[in-house]
Amino acid sequence: MSAPVPINKTSNLSESFNQLNVNSSTSPNAVSTSPTNSYMDRLRPRASTLKSTKSLKPFSTGDMKILLLENINQTAIDIFKSQGYQIEYYKTSLNEDELLEKIKDVHAIGIRSKTKLTSKILKNAKNLVVIGCFCIGTNQVDLEFAASQGISVFNSPFSNSRSVAEMVIAEIICLSRQLSDRSMELHNGIWNKVSSKCWEIRGKTLGIVGYGHIGSQLSVLAEAFGMNVLYYDVQMIMALGTAKQVGSLNELLSKSDFVTLHVPETDDTKNLISYTQLAAMKDGSYLINNARGTVLDIPALIEALKIGKLAGAAIDVFPHEPAKNGEFFNNDLNSWTSELQSLKNLILTPHIGGSTEEAQSAIGVEVATSLTSYINEGASTGAVNFPEVALRGLDLDQENVVRVLYIHQNVPGVLKTVNEILSSYNIEKQFSDSRGNVAYLMADISGVNTDDIKLLYSRLEDTPYKIATRLLY
Ligand SMILES: NC(=O)c1ccc[n+]([C@@H]2O[C@H](COP(=O)([O-])OP(=O)(O)OC[C@H]3O[C@@H](n4cnc5c(N)ncnc54)[C@H](O)[C@@H]3O)[C@@H](O)[C@H]2O)c1
Repeated sequence: MSAPVPINKTSNLSESFNQLNVNSSTSPNAVSTSPTNSYMDRLRPRASTLKSTKSLKPFSTGDMKILLLENINQTAIDIFKSQGYQIEYYKTSLNEDELLEKIKDVHAIGIRSKTKLTSKILKNAKNLVVIGCFCIGTNQVDLEFAASQGISVFNSPFSNSRSVAEMVIAEIICLSRQLSDRSMELHNGIWNKVSSKCWEIRGKTLGIVGYGHIGSQLSVLAEAFGMNVLYYDVQMIMALGTAKQVGSLNELLSKSDFVTLHVPETDDTKNLISYTQLAAMKDGSYLINNARGTVLDIPALIEALKIGKLAGAAIDVFPHEPAKNGEFFNNDLNSWTSELQSLKNLILTPHIGGSTEEAQSAIGVEVATSLTSYINEGASTGAVNFPEVALRGLDLDQENVVRVLYIHQNVPGVLKTVNEILSSYNIEKQFSDSRGNVAYLMADISGVNTDDIKLLYSRLEDTPYKIATRLLY
């Protein structure tokens, strides 16, 4: 286990972005599922960092302490260091006893998928303000309990879109040329030089189901290879390049040489591709699923491959996947596994679509930026368990201004009580939102003397239904 990393104090987020050479030229607060908003849009600094704004510091918490577990990427450490946070860094996860001890006095924690932040652990985290999941999933955190304690949770759902899109391109070529079969044969000493049923991908039609972050990236790459691109999405989405949106899934299936799935896991997408949809596909076409295991009915695919309806398939995600590396992928997990493994021109990969060094580094930047923005400015945009609230930054010349961050139970009458307390000052701006049982108010108030801050804090702390109060000034 390593010792805390020494602090190197500098000012604000824009500086860390400059150090990381991240483009900061476009509009703030760009968080959307629109394909034109790539993950880099989300990495751009928020409103308050585009021009010089006042750096805020917390009242009453002292230096920010952050515990980083599971070998979180260096890009994140650089951002936290640039903010002057005290960092305690471990390459591994901690066992429950160690975690109970270490989490006691930290303000923020960064984890990946192995660390379980249960209600028992979180009850011990008396100072915890924010959790960063440096990964896609957030199942490892008791999100509801965290919100009930005023702890917001951030993750990085889209930082690996490009990695997945590139893998699909690789799979299209591998399937089209039967590369995985030829490679496997040669590994077994068999020379089998064939050209029959091996094709170039130029001029073929790619059908993309789900034109979100991944689907749209893929669209651009596929056109660069000379493919025609069709896509089907439940939303109307502007096409990139010369891609064309089609009106129904069936139309896409019947016109595409390659079909690739990029939809989320929802009730509507369960077995989105099953017997009927496979029957609608072109004879000798190919299917790729890098989305989620529930989206494709694998027994139906097995049949389609066996009868030669499809010429090949690639699957990266499965209904049940091993919990960790080294565990077996066999019929105990999914009853059809051995049948699947016996099929030709079928690429099976262990959920690695988004697993690249670049994705890890982008995840580090994205989550660290979200955490820093929440700690320094209170902005909860992108939180997965929490009302999303943000205010523009304070001007550099604004004196005697305090930013109030007040998290409370979502019950009637709370805002009246809080605004009575704030009404002795000038409320420059305020914004409040709720999610489930938790609500979050942000307000910038001016005319607050340094001596008033303590009183203001204790009055807010004493209100009924308060979950947590932070004052930044
Ligand atoms: N294999 C991997 O390692 C890996 C990595 C990252 C993401 N993923 C998965 O890839 C999938 C796509 O991710 P994304 O980031 O592009 O998501 P996204 O949210 O950006 O895009 C999903 C798109 O699917 C559309 N959609 C939803 N339901 C649909 C339906 N029934 N029919 C057609 N379109 C529908 C949405 O409108 C949206 O445009 C997700 O399931 C995600 O979990 C896998």
